[in-house]
Amino acid sequence: MAINLKGRSFLSIMDFSTQEVRYLLDMAHDLKARKRSGLHSEVLKGKNIVLLFEKTSTRTRCAFEVAALDEGAHVTFLDAKSSQMGKKESLADTAKVLGRFYDGIEYRGYDQQVVEDLAKYAGVPVWNGLTDVDHPTQALADVMTIEENINKPLNQVRLAFCGDTRNNVAYCLMYICAKMGMSYIGFGPQELAPAPEVLARCEAVAEETGATFTISSNPAVLEGADAIYTDIWASMGEEDKIPERVQLLTPYRVTEKLMESTGNPDCIFLHCLPSFHDFETTMAKEQMERGYDIREVTDEVFLSPRSKVFDEAENRMHTIKAVMIATIG
Ligand code: CP
Ligand code: NVA
Repeated sequence: MAINLKGRSFLSIMDFSTQEVRYLLDMAHDLKARKRSGLHSEVLKGKNIVLLFEKTSTRTRCAFEVAALDEGAHVTFLDAKSSQMGKKESLADTAKVLGRFYDGIEYRGYDQQVVEDLAKYAGVPVWNGLTDVDHPTQALADVMTIEENINKPLNQVRLAFCGDTRNNVAYCLMYICAKMGMSYIGFGPQELAPAPEVLARCEAVAEETGATFTISSNPAVLEGADAIYTDIWASMGEEDKIPERVQLLTPYRVTEKLMESTGNPDCIFLHCLPSFHDFETTMAKEQMERGYDIREVTDEVFLSPRSKVFDEAENRMHTIKAVMIATIG
């Protein structure tokens, strides 16, 4: 059956069928090949998109801007300080106004309900650029990178996420694993285990797709992993939790020893970025001066040939381009 996503918002991978996710991934692979050949189709010529950011970003903002400009669309960027949204104007009103000007709206912020409400009122597609509990464009880029680097069908791939297994990136990976019939391993402390309702939703989808879910603090679960994934230990807005996170998550830092424990010499390393893997950032340096080593991965792993993190970052742009082209009406 032909897939048509025109007019749809992209708020969570859970809103899409396996075939629809497959369609977006295939389109992203094609768009990457076309860009590499110097081809631009300008299919978004004459379209206008707006990017709303209540949290900071490098990759997501730039990916949306470059993807839009490559295809001929115009872009407006608004951050929390430069718009009325939520302070002097309700979300519903903001969404209705932006929906009159723009053909698509990207939103990054805190509460998932905000992006859901924007989609409800805007009348144009809304794309989730990260909330506290989801990051669906990231998951698409991650699976695209897996397809480029792991020579197995997705339903044979074992993806292990190490660390804060209840954060936005862990959740979006659980959702895409559920949809694509993959094996997901959440390796982290019990205190940061995924919410039972999130796991239950994934397991319900898994009954149809054959996906499997293992959540454990036992390092033995990493055996046979095809990809080890990690993320920072305290997400944006959780910086005050750094001391407790360092204590809880230091045993889950991705080291060469952890990579070797998979027993898979071809196991790749993935990370959504930004990453603390050295002390070249003010935050890692300042925290270290306070006695907190916040590195979630060692330089040895991050800079090794197993690490595909920069392919993954590039793929944010191709996958976001696919989402925009597929959904803008
Ligand atoms: N991975 C990711 O979303 O990066 P940014 O925070 O830089 O957008
Ligand atoms: N979990 C991280 C992801 C950043 C892309 C955060 O929310 O800060």
